[in-house]
Amino acid sequence: MAAQQTDNRIKIAVQKSGRLTEHSLDLLARCGLTYSRGRDQLICYGENMPVDVLLVRDDDIPGLVQEDICDLGIVGGNVIEEVRLGLVERGETELFAKVSTLDYGHCRLSFGLPDGTPYESPRSLQGQRIATSYPNIVRDFLRRSGVDASVVEFSGAVEIAPSLGRADVICDLVSSGATLRAHHLYEAETILESQAALIQTPKAVPSVKADWIRRLLQRVQGVIQVKESKYIMLHAPRSALQKIRALLPGAEAPTIMPLEGRDDKVALHAVCRENVFWETLEQLKEAGASSMLVLPVEKMLD
Ligand code: PRP
Ligand code: ZN
Repeated sequence: MAAQQTDNRIKIAVQKSGRLTEHSLDLLARCGLTYSRGRDQLICYGENMPVDVLLVRDDDIPGLVQEDICDLGIVGGNVIEEVRLGLVERGETELFAKVSTLDYGHCRLSFGLPDGTPYESPRSLQGQRIATSYPNIVRDFLRRSGVDASVVEFSGAVEIAPSLGRADVICDLVSSGATLRAHHLYEAETILESQAALIQTPKAVPSVKADWIRRLLQRVQGVIQVKESKYIMLHAPRSALQKIRALLPGAEAPTIMPLEGRDDKVALHAVCRENVFWETLEQLKEAGASSMLVLPVEKMLD
């Protein structure tokens, strides 16, 4: 443990196998990280940056970051909230900082009831036994709703609890809804929307490390931005420039260039921070734009 704290390599905790694994490793690759997997397959050693990736159980990630064993972690908002509520309850103040949401791993935490069981409002849960792997979130929801129900903790396979007679209701993650349907349960109410997020240790890190963390976070922001960003090029009558600029979604100051032999027209290049849809191109055309090209953005750094 001591060695881990003194060395200057950044450690990022990522889910070992599950809905976030592939996306998270892909995100790090897009940030330029190349790595080789250790023989135990649990650590990826960064080759071109002082960054190592630890592959762990998702539920362990907030704790690893909070205890400063890892500097950063990528984990679902559902796990973050569950652990956060537990820490708050125990009066622990140094938690972890949520740096950014990552726009993948979307899912929701919902109550699932056996088909045919009525549900009108949280009141319908009064006196019921609720099976879940998210006891803190569920208890918090029940408390806020003024409902008295018992929470039965399951570490996995929550959906089989009703058929085993261990619970009346479940509260579990739903993405496609296939798992609920396969167990003759229906989704009655969502209590939390979740997506992947990046979290950071609350502890101060040595400056060498801090500098790499800053660079890495900057690259992560870049990767998130380019997903939606487009580079647009078009020709525009000078007289219509103002109108055309106003139509460009999320664009900063565009570059305006003269067109050889034309005084009435210019070329305009701009980065749009939002996707450019056909509707926008049609409106631009109507405003007088021509020769429009929309290109994907590969990398971005502000
Ligand atoms: C969740 C949940 C269900 C499944 C629901 O598990 O426990 O089993 O996903 O998805 P569906 O609506 O698309 O069928 P997950 O794979 O996230 O594993 P974990 O909760 O053990 O981390
Ligand atoms: Zn899990």
